[in-house]
Amino acid sequence: MSIPDQHDQCSVSSRNIVTVQSLINTDTRERHYGHKSGILWLTGLSGAGKSTLAVTLEKQLFHKGYQVCVLDGDNIRTGLSVDLGFSPEDRTENIRRVGEVAKLIANVGFLVITAFISPYRNERDRLRTVTPNLFHEIYVKADLSICENRDPKGLYAMARRGEILDFTGISAPYEEPKHPNLTIDTGKLSIDASTARLTRYVAENFGQK
Ligand code: ADX
Repeated sequence: MSIPDQHDQCSVSSRNIVTVQSLINTDTRERHYGHKSGILWLTGLSGAGKSTLAVTLEKQLFHKGYQVCVLDGDNIRTGLSVDLGFSPEDRTENIRRVGEVAKLIANVGFLVITAFISPYRNERDRLRTVTPNLFHEIYVKADLSICENRDPKGLYAMARRGEILDFTGISAPYEEPKHPNLTIDTGKLSIDASTARLTRYVAENFGQK
């Protein structure tokens, strides 16, 4: 017998489960809140501006009256994913967990903005499959040289010195999205212009507020 992978193990240990259906369906929630729900999945290199964009956009949308929240890589890694590192397997599990959480929150009417490097194209494509109609891939694009110059946390310098292993862009891969729903080039656009572009995208795709 082959050894089951993590996902198989989940399904084995999830036998004899009967899921609970909410008495409030998604349509009712969306009518109540006045906009569609969904997941704005920000992907890009460390230092590309995902977190800054996520919280700036969250604030703008909140004040316009959207139900909105942010799930951020560094925050999730101090709690939900505290047991995970940066190997390919751990990153895959991190993204799987966050995808599940984002789906739960989107299903109760929220716009969920996520900010994770999420470097593997396969994993992002898998998210699109498990969250049909909810998932919007937003590529927060900036060249490695720009991110490395910004180096807001000093991590690129540490990675170059070999003090951090498996660092995305230096010693671990980042697979660019092939068909993102939207690309925000933070190497060219200011934070204000980037946020304005995203706010317009939200109005067009989730409803105007
Ligand atoms: S992901 O690859 O699993 O999506 P995630 O977005 O959660 O990564 O975490 C990335 C953050 O962890 C970076 O912004 C950076 O602050 C920190 N970090 C620490 N070690 C690494 C590493 N080896 N590679 C990338 N980011 C790292």
